[in-house]
Amino acid sequence: MKPFLILSALVLTGASAPPPQAQQPAPPATAAAAPEAKIPSDAANTVNPVKPTAESLARAKKIYGYECAMCHGESGDGAGDLAKNMKAKMVDFRDPSALKGRTDGELFYIIKNGKGEMDGEGARVKPEETWNLVIYLRSLSKP
Ligand code: HEC
Repeated sequence: MKPFLILSALVLTGASAPPPQAQQPAPPATAAAAPEAKIPSDAANTVNPVKPTAESLARAKKIYGYECAMCHGESGDGAGDLAKNMKAKMVDFRDPSALKGRTDGELFYIIKNGKGEMDGEGARVKPEETWNLVIYLRSLSKP
């Protein structure tokens, strides 16, 4: 009888052991879900009214150089000096999947209003140029 009891005890202990990693509840789908949820849907659904030209992209590149590169890096890799100092977690705009899930309207909203530790450009950059920046950001991931 005794060996049987020990065996059952072992089985019971085994059964109540914490489940293996794979059975633990999945983490929330994306860490960015919360801030994203704050973008009003009419803003997110706004269609980019700007048609890019070589000239408008050149302007966007210049603005990006002044206003964004210190954090997002000249190439969009997210390794700008200021971002490094802030130890900010940056997306890599060169990675085609980085902005794939975002609409132009969402990107416009983030550039205008900011996100997390990034301040928005507000009225410093005209809406037309902000749309150009959206187009420029997307162009960074193209070969
Ligand atoms: C002071 C540093 C800083 C500057 C300057 C800055 N950003 Fe950011 N940016 C960040 C940080 C940090 C994040 C991540 C914020 C978060 O997710 O909490 C971010 C996020 C973004 C995102 C969202 C990426 C995503 O999918 O989550 C976009 C788009 C963006 N920045 C564009 C720009 C553009 C365009 C400019 C220039 C007009 C700019 N940023 C200037 C720091 C900066």
